[in-house]
Amino acid sequence: MRRKLAAGNWKMNGTSESLAELDALRSAHPAPQVDVLICPPATLVTSAVVSVADHDIAIGGQDCHAKPNGAHTGDISASMLKDAGASYVILGHSERRTDHVEIDGLVRQKTLAAHASDLIAVVCVGETLEEREAANTLDIIAGQLAGSLPDVLNAQNTVIAYEPVWAIGTGKVPTTDQIGEVHDHIRAKLEQRYGEGVGRSIRILYGGSVKGSNADEIFAVSNVDGALVGGASLKASDFSPIITALEKA
Ligand code: PGA
Repeated sequence: MRRKLAAGNWKMNGTSESLAELDALRSAHPAPQVDVLICPPATLVTSAVVSVADHDIAIGGQDCHAKPNGAHTGDISASMLKDAGASYVILGHSERRTDHVEIDGLVRQKTLAAHASDLIAVVCVGETLEEREAANTLDIIAGQLAGSLPDVLNAQNTVIAYEPVWAIGTGKVPTTDQIGEVHDHIRAKLEQRYGEGVGRSIRILYGGSVKGSNADEIFAVSNVDGALVGGASLKASDFSPIITALEKA
């Protein structure tokens, strides 16, 4: 059985005041039945870890450098995130791929760096609207998985997030059939490459305009093991119903 995961990506949002949202989440979910992860901006990782101490909520980074240290102004390494108390790191998010021209090979290097520092990598893939309209979605996803994932990984150190670029922050959500088609495809590719045992145990999240109001139907789709949530993770009052929906799924 794959343990479900509700992951929040705060992106470039949040100052120390936002830590109150973590307190609210703790109170609303004293003993969550699913894994809960919040990825605040790097400036808040340490204080977020303190805020959730003695609780099951995990804290993660939103990116890391592929190298362990060195002359890379403005970057942070996987070992620094680990040292700050993070247990996960999001890699290859479409905003990183666009804003920072991150290509699959770099995402693969970063995934290896995350694993070397004992972080769980949440590796993101997703097609643009043009790619979907050209009926290229499944090929694009297969290519991103092939290039972004290392040859050796396991279900304990890797999570996949399927995030259609056109659904991120737009309020547009694929149909449940479209989500199911891609998640089944990702599952098949993982089983092919890593063997049935590993391929079947890796969690696959859906991300892109997930809200309390659409969570139930998304979580009912086969091979959807949770969500990566942006906007609706910023407020505990918005994220909490998503956690509850996942617990019930
Ligand atoms: P969104 O973002 O929930 O605001 O659409 C999802 C993501 O980018 O992870």
